[in-house]
Amino acid sequence: MKSETAQNATALTEQLIQFRRHLHQHPELSNQEFETTKWVKAQLETAGIRIVDYSLKTGVVAEIGGQKQGPIIALRADIDALPIQEETGLSYASLVPGKMHACGHDFHTAALLGTAILLKEQEHELRGTVRLLFQPAEEKAQGAQQLIKAGALNGVQAIFGMHNKPDLPVGTIGITGGPLMAAADGFIIEVEGLESHAAVPDAGLDPIVTAAHIVTALQSIVSRNVSPLQSAVVSVTQIHSGTTWNIIPGKAVLEGTIRTFDEHVRLRVLERFQQVVEGVGVAFGAQVSLRWIEGPPPVVNDEAWASVAKQTADELGFQSLEPVPSPAGEDFAFYQRVIPGLFVFMGTAGSREWHHPAFDLDEQALPVSVAFFSALAKQALERLEEAGGNSI
Ligand code: NI
Repeated sequence: MKSETAQNATALTEQLIQFRRHLHQHPELSNQEFETTKWVKAQLETAGIRIVDYSLKTGVVAEIGGQKQGPIIALRADIDALPIQEETGLSYASLVPGKMHACGHDFHTAALLGTAILLKEQEHELRGTVRLLFQPAEEKAQGAQQLIKAGALNGVQAIFGMHNKPDLPVGTIGITGGPLMAAADGFIIEVEGLESHAAVPDAGLDPIVTAAHIVTALQSIVSRNVSPLQSAVVSVTQIHSGTTWNIIPGKAVLEGTIRTFDEHVRLRVLERFQQVVEGVGVAFGAQVSLRWIEGPPPVVNDEAWASVAKQTADELGFQSLEPVPSPAGEDFAFYQRVIPGLFVFMGTAGSREWHHPAFDLDEQALPVSVAFFSALAKQALERLEEAGGNSI
């Protein structure tokens, strides 16, 4: 049975590559995936798969199975692209100037379509329902919340998804229980000072000196307030202030990001961050305001589903390995706040990292993904049915 799934997936390879290349040539940005939505629907309809209407602006939800009363699981792919000018030189490069599938969401979408086609062929064997989420706006960390709000998780007991991983070889899958990707919060700090002649600093209040002390003091959070056995990133990535050499400006603006893998660490870092920023402001007599840009929470995988997935990968002849967690953010984490879920890294052997203008991947990873997720979906339904309505 295991080899049959892998063989069926391999037989789909040409079609999967066509799917992926079509998507790659026609990238659309977050919340503007209108043509992608139409195209995905058309492919699903061609395969006889039923679309479920959740009144979404963009994105598609579909279902397979459900002939027998049973559990519901969800498989998720993100469908949006990035505002990047492609520099791969590929024959099927983006046809849209300034837009590119530089994070491989075309790969995720093509793989989920292939998985859907394979599961549809085995629909009579399914011990429940597989709900397919083609999610918009991952890059803005909005799509998952949109689908949750629309009710797409209602009745779902477990959710599975993946990200392609350029540094892992094809045929390997990074699977782990616990944290895999980071919470990605942002901040904007405004320091209000008082303008003066640069030669008469005592007549003003220099926001640059305050800003510099804030940047320096923030470095103590990771080194002094986070356990050495846990990790966090605090990066100030922009400082804007001043107009010329002989005027002390009235204002400085700082921006940056905080990355954490654990909700407790996250709250501790955010708390200390606020204290440091406000405290330095008080010390220098400057008005300081802090605005959070709340990002997705950390991706934290369910241990039980991770072990089921490892077994599934082994049975298919793929190599499951312990992934190095990524400090990038991923809005799949929002689903995991609602129900247990598993997010994996699919080896795609690319030469560039995510969001690079020359990002590419090995399309031979498409049938690997299809075999893995179709086998995992069937396995998950069986486990849930055996657990009789309890979590596994
Ligand atoms: Ni991505």
